[in-house]
Amino acid sequence: MSSYGTQALAHLFGILAIILLLVWLLDFREGIDYDSDNGFRVFNVHPLMMFMGFIFLGGEAILSFQTIPSQRQTKKFFHMMLHLISIILGIVGLCAAFKFHNMMGFPNVYSLHSWIGIGTVCLSGLQWLVGFVTFMFPRAADPTRARVVPWHIAGGRALLFMAVCAAETGLMEKYGFLRAKSNLQPHQRESYLINFTGLAILLFGVFVDLSVSIRRNSV
Ligand code: HEM
Ligand code: HEM
Repeated sequence: MSSYGTQALAHLFGILAIILLLVWLLDFREGIDYDSDNGFRVFNVHPLMMFMGFIFLGGEAILSFQTIPSQRQTKKFFHMMLHLISIILGIVGLCAAFKFHNMMGFPNVYSLHSWIGIGTVCLSGLQWLVGFVTFMFPRAADPTRARVVPWHIAGGRALLFMAVCAAETGLMEKYGFLRAKSNLQPHQRESYLINFTGLAILLFGVFVDLSVSIRRNSV
């Protein structure tokens, strides 16, 4: 399969994950509203922003060197801007999780999920800053850029998988709460919906990463 095939599958699973997430949050859960008095509606901003904002746009930013039919400078500009928007929306998503915890009087940042999640967003911010200084402005000298590129690419791919791990553990965290508090049973439709959402998110990560590796290794 060429990298066109893997890119197409990446877009497909990304869009599928967004649709499944929206069906879950709007149809099975309480809906999505950052300013609501209902803490659960505030919370639902979190998974949506973390996947649609942070992971999906971050993945599309990684693919932009292959998908934007333009000069290298333009591809780089889109890569940088899409990552910036993804990190900003990720921060909005994190604020929603903190707001929900504070509204309900829950402790903050206690779970493995939240540790992986907060680590991923912080390191992505650092990767963005180092990327900006090295490749855009003031822009490092040629030999330095050549030395940084492999680290930038390997680090960016690792960050994508860390974000996917955060989403998977987040889904399981929420599933655990729903089983304990709302009596959600294993074979109910909502349980399958959560599982299929997790699979679509995982396959999005896999196909973005495969596209990067196939493009870079093709002769
Ligand atoms: C479908 C995706 C996701 C779901 C269903 C989800 C679910 C949850 C749940 C249930 C909590 C509250 C319990 C806890 O603190 O662990 C939470 C908190 C948190 N999540 Fe997620 N999450 C998702 C994606 C992400 C992603 C991708 C990140 C970061 C990259 C992230 C970062 C965090 C952080 C930092 C907290 C802690 C907030 C606090 O302690 O106040 N989440 N998430
Ligand atoms: C100001 C921000 C950024 C700039 C200026 C920048 C710049 C670049 C450049 C110039 C390349 C091309 C390397 C080459 O093909 O020779 C690249 C590739 C890449 N970047 Fe960034 N980057 C930024 C932020 C990020 C962030 C935040 C991530 C991930 C979290 C990331 C992940 C990647 C990945 C995975 C590739 C490989 C893409 C491929 O080869 O198809 N970048 N970046």
